[in-house]
Amino acid sequence: MLPKFSSKAFLAPMAGVSDPALRLQCKKMGAGLVVTEFTSIHSIIAKEQQLKENMKTIQEFIEYSEEERPLSVQLFGSDLVALEKAAKIVEPYFDIIDYNMGCPAPHITQQMAGGALLQEVNLTQQIFSTLVNAVKKPVTLKIRSGVTSASKFLFRDIAEVAEDEGIQMITFHPRTVSQGYSGNADWNLIKELKEISNLPIVGNGDVTTPEEAKTMLDETGCDYVMIGRGVMGNPFLFEQINDYLKTNSYHEYSFKDRLDSFFEYLHLTSKYNIKFANIKGQAMRFTKGMRGGSSLRAKITFSKNLSELEQIMKDGYALSNA
Ligand SMILES: Cc1cc2nc3c(=O)[nH]c(=O)nc-3n(C[C@H](O)[C@H](O)[C@H](O)COP(=O)(O)O)c2cc1C
Repeated sequence: MLPKFSSKAFLAPMAGVSDPALRLQCKKMGAGLVVTEFTSIHSIIAKEQQLKENMKTIQEFIEYSEEERPLSVQLFGSDLVALEKAAKIVEPYFDIIDYNMGCPAPHITQQMAGGALLQEVNLTQQIFSTLVNAVKKPVTLKIRSGVTSASKFLFRDIAEVAEDEGIQMITFHPRTVSQGYSGNADWNLIKELKEISNLPIVGNGDVTTPEEAKTMLDETGCDYVMIGRGVMGNPFLFEQINDYLKTNSYHEYSFKDRLDSFFEYLHLTSKYNIKFANIKGQAMRFTKGMRGGSSLRAKITFSKNLSELEQIMKDGYALSNA
């Protein structure tokens, strides 16, 4: 069974972005569910072997904290034996196992994983059945609509197979794989999926404001909304959505608040093994749209370590106070 979610707004899995520090911030701001960035089933197996030799567990590789719960781990890879093994390795630590069938990156689709699987109904069916039989935890799915515009309705068959095989929830980003992030997400397709499927549907794509979150929920009938790029450097969005859905109003945050929030993020990163390049990326996002932000970002690019980065952000903070 799926856990109970405290909010209708979820944080999207984002490689290099939805690290344990950002996830925790989003959780504290009211996200109903947070999802790890996608992880290869093969690296989970290889890492677990190494870690076991040092009496450690997979938690050292996919880092998280208890405060993030309910927490979903996202897997990719289509080798059925490896999939079963990897799912069993992560199962004890996570509340939901999510399967990625949306990633458009060529290095993923070329290994018959991510979005490429949308055109492989038979293999997909075996993947779902393998996962659902391998673990007792709920298995969920994240998909795009199709591979090309000519095949943009592939989601219909995949959703049906998912339901038959015991998948418990579908997140739907209605762009095709070949679209990447161009154009708009076609929310009409979310409405259609909600109508044809009995599963809870998480609508995803292009939500950046509380108003848009409400519109997606109202117009498509989806059960939850998932937000990716709109939360980058802006974890406040979860609180705003929750307030807006309850009271029709929400608190606005200033750039100073965003910088404060970056320092909170930075503080949280100290507990984890997050790559410095990723932390720099977050610093860039927290300054997006800020007055003087572009010169700040130019400095951020050249920072070589955490203390340099912190100093640059402190100078930026002083400026925003000036
Ligand atoms: C930098 C970045 C990394 C992403 N990584 C993942 C990932 O690991 N797994 C996944 O299912 N989707 C991934 N996505 C897609 C998002 O989860 C989401 O489906 C997409 O960004 C559309 O939602 P949005 O318009 O709210 O950003 C990524 C997106 C971005 C921008």
